[in-house]
Amino acid sequence: MTTPTIELKPSASPLSDAERAAILANPGFGRHFTDHMVVIKWTEGRGWHDGQLVPYAPLSLDPATMVLHYAQEIFEGLKAYRQPDGTVATFRPEKNAQRFQASARRLGMPELPVETFIEACDALVKQDEAWVPAHGGEESLYLRPFMIATEVGLGVKPANEYLFLVIASPAGAYFPGGVKPVSIWVSEDHVRAVPGGMGDAKTGGNYAASLLAQAEAAEQGCAQVCYLDAVERKWVEELGGMNLYFVYGNKIVTPTLTGSILEGVTRDSLLQVARDLGYEAEEGRVSVDQWQTDSANGTLTEVFACGTAAVITPVGTVKRTGAEWTQGAGEPGEVTVKLRQALLDIQRGTAEDQHGWMHKL
Ligand code: COI
Repeated sequence: MTTPTIELKPSASPLSDAERAAILANPGFGRHFTDHMVVIKWTEGRGWHDGQLVPYAPLSLDPATMVLHYAQEIFEGLKAYRQPDGTVATFRPEKNAQRFQASARRLGMPELPVETFIEACDALVKQDEAWVPAHGGEESLYLRPFMIATEVGLGVKPANEYLFLVIASPAGAYFPGGVKPVSIWVSEDHVRAVPGGMGDAKTGGNYAASLLAQAEAAEQGCAQVCYLDAVERKWVEELGGMNLYFVYGNKIVTPTLTGSILEGVTRDSLLQVARDLGYEAEEGRVSVDQWQTDSANGTLTEVFACGTAAVITPVGTVKRTGAEWTQGAGEPGEVTVKLRQALLDIQRGTAEDQHGWMHKL
């Protein structure tokens, strides 16, 4: 199969420099979008067509388009960071490209070549570079590659036509409170994914499945929901849209990938960053009862959430049916803060990129 090329068809930005600067000063998360997008079509028989970088615009879809009915959709999230010399780099885009291929396999969709995924992200960031926030702050440019089934019809089957798109959005902190500790509701009624299901694929359905429990978390006054495993309802899996780490003094532990947990790029990077800083870092099983007990006896010193959007966000209050406790002193813990800074230093280009993670544009 030939690798698609991407034709550039840009147009002038509909926003003035002053309007864009006002957005970049306070972007929030996922509220504003840049001027362009990349679109690449796939059709059965022909495979990937050449792509186009075009002005950001609504899509026009037939009401019977398959994705609207059977949710054959996958997505990714990665960020572009302004470097100290003014250039721009993305963080481990090949990891996202590989996970996108794994998600595509799980949902019966065509696999986009890794180099095309990276080229599409690069083309958009280069075109809309003015939207990459300044170096040094919390802000970055969040890229959202995604693929949808576009065949028209109501039969349940893998579609014979797909669209791959990349859009971009300047992003500040995911949680409105920034890096302040978030509160967690441990859901003992709802599960996110089951063994043999698609919990390890990055597909919209997993996020839709999290919304009812997320609403219950909000009723409990919590910012995020934490899921337990579907079989024993005992082992901690992940939050609605990010992975979790437990800190035991000098050791950090993240739930083992069981097939129903998403393999986060930040999660994976932190195993390495922690070791580089001299911490022990491992995957393991942590039960919710152990979480509660170890918090009470002080051996579990910190807990934090991590993901591309969330970066590293400390966990403060934890609530489950019949119990509530506060992690550490309710302030960001020392290990959490050190790991966060070390990761951001690599991403912002102020620390050595020992593992070759930064992809310069
Ligand atoms: C990301 O961290 O990139 C995600 O896709 C999670 C979502 C909650 C924004």
